[in-house]
Amino acid sequence: MKLLFTNIKELLQVREASVLKLSGKEMNILPTIKNAWLLVEDDKISDYGKMDDLSEISADKTIDLTGKMVLPSWCDSHTHIVYAGNREQEFGQRISGLSYEEIANNGGGILNSATTLQNTSEEDLYDQSAKRLEEVIQQGTGAVEIKSGYGLTKDAELKILRVIKKLQQNYSLPIKATFLGAHALPLEYKNKKEKYIDHVINEILPAVAEENLADYIDIFCEHGYFTVEDTNKLLKAAAKFNLRPKIHVNQFNAIGGVQAGVENNALSVDHLEEMKPEDIQALKNSETMPVALPGCSLFLSIPYTPARMIIDADLPLALATDFNPGSAPSGNMNLVVSLACIKMKMTPEEAINAATINGAYAMDLSEKVGSITRGKLANLIITKAIPSYTYIPYAFGSNPIEAIYIKGKLIK
Ligand code: NIG
Ligand code: FE
Repeated sequence: MKLLFTNIKELLQVREASVLKLSGKEMNILPTIKNAWLLVEDDKISDYGKMDDLSEISADKTIDLTGKMVLPSWCDSHTHIVYAGNREQEFGQRISGLSYEEIANNGGGILNSATTLQNTSEEDLYDQSAKRLEEVIQQGTGAVEIKSGYGLTKDAELKILRVIKKLQQNYSLPIKATFLGAHALPLEYKNKKEKYIDHVINEILPAVAEENLADYIDIFCEHGYFTVEDTNKLLKAAAKFNLRPKIHVNQFNAIGGVQAGVENNALSVDHLEEMKPEDIQALKNSETMPVALPGCSLFLSIPYTPARMIIDADLPLALATDFNPGSAPSGNMNLVVSLACIKMKMTPEEAINAATINGAYAMDLSEKVGSITRGKLANLIITKAIPSYTYIPYAFGSNPIEAIYIKGKLIK
């Protein structure tokens, strides 16, 4: 099947296959072709160019995109899409003045979601999660990472990871799975944190590996959750099963999680709302992608990741949604790109790069998605007729998307 798009107002994020991630000043450049054509063959991008240079191509279907733009789908490298129920009640409590920490200390938070999930069947959990996945695909996400972490028992963590596996089988976008058993300390392990970490390492992790249910390992490295020592211990154990870290660090406090991540060859370190100069230093000369989650900052009214400090230090940066019931109940990457510009002072070029090619890197998918490149998957966003690509972050809350293609197939 050959699909030819013609008269594209602007084809965005056109890259050579050798570009795997962008750092520092490179992030401010978004290569585009104005008045372009794009050829998709079966599930892949096969060629593109300027309309002026379009020679005869025999396609099965030609679609005129006058006034519209094409860009690679968003790459959302950090989500917790597989959860049960919701936490609207806590939302109300926060509006009336309780903090996220106070709610968690009163038995709410992650433990609240874990209880709900433990009492939800695998089928029901799949249905709830598939709905959310379909919603984010409609919003332009064409590759996604999904974490466990709302189970906190062996059975419930495996249940989540099996649901992710089913989503991988039933949906055609690339989905990466991350094991986050060390997301919070279950009540039955109160004052016995060592025991829980050992349980995760000795009981749950081998079962996850045995069924080949995860690509990555995660831990919430934060005061009141897990220490740098716990982090090092878990990451070293996971390395034996070839699970590379993608970890939650520096959300509320900079306690050395970034360094632990880099030392354990993390693919990404995520959140980074609190950053010290030593964290920036640790990221230099590493292969680790820093990931910002501005939806969480918006929802919890906490600081935004200091994107300028990170990018101006010549580092890369990726953007993701953190879609979860407690701190970011939205998987809308369009909004994330807007927030990055409005609140983190990223340029539209930096934000689009962070949400596509750098997001792909943070899932080890740079060779498959994240740019308009010959041979990459035809996971594409077709915009409505918009004046410029800046309009995408500028018109926050408005939906810039007219159509979505995943592996060359029209989804919306
Ligand atoms: O990434 N920080 C840890 N985990 C999630 C939120 C957890 C929750 O409140 O349910 C996050 O923000
Ligand atoms: Fe998260």
